[in-house]
Amino acid sequence: MEPEGRVILKGEHIAKHFGALAALSGVDFTLHEGEILGLIGPNGSGKTTLFNVITGVYRPTKGKVFFEGQDITGLSPHKICQLGIAKTSQIVQPFTHMTVAENVLVGAMYGGGLSQREAWDKTWEVLEFVRLDKVGNVSSGNISIPDRRRLELARALATSAKVILLDENMAGLTPSEIEEALDLLRAIRVRGITLMVVEHIMRAVMGISDRMIVFDYGEKIAEGTPGEIADNPEVIKAYLGEKYA
Ligand SMILES: Nc1ncnc2c1ncn2[C@@H]1O[C@H](COP(=O)(O)OP(=O)(O)OP(=O)(O)O)[C@@H](O)[C@H]1O
Ligand SMILES: [Mg+2]
Repeated sequence: MEPEGRVILKGEHIAKHFGALAALSGVDFTLHEGEILGLIGPNGSGKTTLFNVITGVYRPTKGKVFFEGQDITGLSPHKICQLGIAKTSQIVQPFTHMTVAENVLVGAMYGGGLSQREAWDKTWEVLEFVRLDKVGNVSSGNISIPDRRRLELARALATSAKVILLDENMAGLTPSEIEEALDLLRAIRVRGITLMVVEHIMRAVMGISDRMIVFDYGEKIAEGTPGEIADNPEVIKAYLGEKYA
């Protein structure tokens, strides 16, 4: 199955070694404009490492990353964010001494190109969109888990990213909170933003993804529609014995 949109983000033969450990070895992927691409794989299979390579936190040992046709390999995280790629963290780490709105403002300023006044306008627009406007002036240390997850998304949205990488943004949510989170992702897609979603909650990631890729031990072992992935014997094997199977 060939997705419809043009390729917005592409990885070629990406490898990342930490000493003797190959966290990623020779991974190729494409992300097409407007799609939701799911990325799954057992713990330690390299998902977060790939996000860190894409966003410039790590320089790959080998391989290249292209964004809108431009080679962005080795650029600083700040530069990559300004070009239009943002990610949410697996470990939620808001600046707890700041309010929810101030946290989102950091995203708006970091994304670049906005005056302080425009950044505040952007902040409140985004807070309303993710339905955090009512807690905008609350200290971010005092909000609920689902609100913290939404705050992570709001910070990414405030940078005016074209591509957002979500790293387990639904971890710790109840089933009804997961439904709300999925609705929010669909609304983000309607805004024209392209999403790459790492998630262990299979029902959620299978339900939302147009296409999926599967990692095992730092390699891509499968790629296809959620239906194809669910039936793939390699994938079932990789998850056998995993609590997420
Ligand atoms: N900074 C680092 N230094 C050394 N090893 C690392 C580092 N970051 C990740 N690793 C190792 O690389 C491998 C891949 O880790 P990664 O965090 O990418 O996995 P993951 O697929 O995101 O796992 P999880 O589902 O548990 O979040 C693991 O063996 C991990 O211990
Ligand atoms: Mg991870």
